[in-house]
Amino acid sequence: MTKPPRRLAISLLLLGVIALSAGCGAVGWEWDTKMSTVMPKSDFGRMTHDIFMLISWWTLGIFILVEGGLLYACWRFRDRPGAPIPKQIHGHTVLEVSWTIAFAAILVIFAVPTVRVIFKTQEAPAATDLKVDVVGHQWWWEFRYPGQNVVTANEAHLPVGQTVAFNLHGPDVIHSFWVPQLGGKRDVVPSRVNRITLTPEVPGEYIGQCAEYCGTSHANMRFRVIVHPKGEWEKWVAAQQGPPLEPKDELALKGKELFSQSACMGCHTISGMSAGILGPNLTHFGSRKTFGGASMMSTPENLAKWVENPDHMKPGVLMPNLGMRDDQSKALAAYLLSLK
Ligand code: CUA
Repeated sequence: MTKPPRRLAISLLLLGVIALSAGCGAVGWEWDTKMSTVMPKSDFGRMTHDIFMLISWWTLGIFILVEGGLLYACWRFRDRPGAPIPKQIHGHTVLEVSWTIAFAAILVIFAVPTVRVIFKTQEAPAATDLKVDVVGHQWWWEFRYPGQNVVTANEAHLPVGQTVAFNLHGPDVIHSFWVPQLGGKRDVVPSRVNRITLTPEVPGEYIGQCAEYCGTSHANMRFRVIVHPKGEWEKWVAAQQGPPLEPKDELALKGKELFSQSACMGCHTISGMSAGILGPNLTHFGSRKTFGGASMMSTPENLAKWVENPDHMKPGVLMPNLGMRDDQSKALAAYLLSLK
């Protein structure tokens, strides 16, 4: 290689490094994001992160060794005018056996903690654990609290510092339960019950997402986990256990009447009103921030649009279009939002 191109290559490389670091500085290196696994908020998250760091450090060491050896060889055996051809070697049994064993040993170093965490996070729940049955439907998540007699959808509520055992049920197809900041992924498989045991450590609202392709609206199969500060979760449970508030304004009352006369009754449960089980339990719908697989915010506009044409908002949804229009959909939205 002649001198000018080499200088050009080095300059370009330097320029790249500068641009990259400037870019990182400008946008801010944001680790603590909703779908990030590198800022764990539970014991499961921490254990997963520890394994990730273990692998990262080993990989960095191997990278430095391999690149160091490569650079050394490039420099040591570089072409020089009049230099003889270096000694040609081929096949070195001791070396080949050694590095095969070395890499197998490194894989064992990764495997031991990995298997330990897998077993630890699916062990049988202790009597003191909070038990939550998770049901992966097409395409929404149901959360049942058998000990509290509470059923909700798309938004799981947990107390901070309390170990929770999620029992994962998949009545039809395979889904995968994943809350990046808290733990997962673990498959939700028909005909068997998988489990995730974890302890949330920081109060907050965490985003979950189905992580296994399960059909048309797989990407719309989201959920939220709300981890309450000490003493707050009990209040949530108490509110969920009671019947919903009675609607007060005229529009919501009209919605209630409409609900009671329509096919809604056959699919949804509203305590004291209906007992359908095909769709989400709506008893305290108004206390949830989201609906439709947690993919939409619960606003009157979104709900009215949803009632008018669910498939348009969540393609492939099982909820039929009931032909609700204008005033009807607005009334139903007002009624649903009144269900606190
Ligand atoms: Cu459920 Cu993807």
